[in-house]
Amino acid sequence: MDLQSRTCADAARDIEVMPVRRDLHFALPAERIGDWHDEGRHVSHFFNALSLFFPDGERFFIHSVRHYRNEISDPTLSRAVTAFIGQEAMHGREHTECNEMLDRAGLPGAPLQQFVFRLTERLKHLPKAMQLSATIALEHLTAIMANSLLQDARVVGRAEPHFARLWRWHALEETEHKAVAYDVWCAVMPKTLGSYLMRVTGLLLASLIFWPLVFTFMWRITRADAQCRAERGGWRRTLRFLFLTPGPLRRAMGEWFDYFKPGFHPWQHDNRRYLAGIEPLLRDLQGGSGLAA
Ligand SMILES: [Fe+2]
Ligand SMILES: [Fe+2]
Repeated sequence: MDLQSRTCADAARDIEVMPVRRDLHFALPAERIGDWHDEGRHVSHFFNALSLFFPDGERFFIHSVRHYRNEISDPTLSRAVTAFIGQEAMHGREHTECNEMLDRAGLPGAPLQQFVFRLTERLKHLPKAMQLSATIALEHLTAIMANSLLQDARVVGRAEPHFARLWRWHALEETEHKAVAYDVWCAVMPKTLGSYLMRVTGLLLASLIFWPLVFTFMWRITRADAQCRAERGGWRRTLRFLFLTPGPLRRAMGEWFDYFKPGFHPWQHDNRRYLAGIEPLLRDLQGGSGLAA
């Protein structure tokens, strides 16, 4: 059957990936928070800016999916939701550690994270369907960024190894659970034009709000970092890294548009092959400087 013409329920039945909650620690070296990426301080701070969104952003995802937990009759999806909540909670914990290192380095981690907290608290006042629409949109953004990270070793593969493992772990688990919130949406929302419009409007709004905020956060951090202020060409290098070589954001663009197909499902983009990287990552953590609990 042609993938494009199938409903999301059809596609979901074909591919079942059950996420697993993993309680991991990464022993990040705090002194490297400003220059852990091999492309330099500005690129490090691009990722650090993203990291500031995760703890409260992912708590919001958990909050919005929980509204519908009692409406899910499929036991497999129910188990996937439990694992999704467990994974996002672990991501939040580990990124909080990373974010606190920014403050210890004299950079504005706490105030920026407070901004994200206030924003997500406001989102919690929206109708619950709109909250879920925002969640599946942001999960789509994280899934396509995760795919970009996993498909090219240059995105984080040459970075300081502890930070590289943290980002690879997060990308792998985002891939593992990329369809869970979406399957909840498919299970609880009517198959109407109104639902479709709410879903795609969610992605448009999420993208229009999220990306300007990420670059504003990065600007705030780089302005506060004396070594960044003294450096020339940092922003140019970051834009070249993001959009040209290796170009993770450019590569994600096609998948961003796929979300507008009426029969879209996250597993239509089948990148399960990357999940084979989970076991080696765990062995690497156990054998080395990180810790798999
Ligand atoms: Fe996450
Ligand atoms: Fe996620």
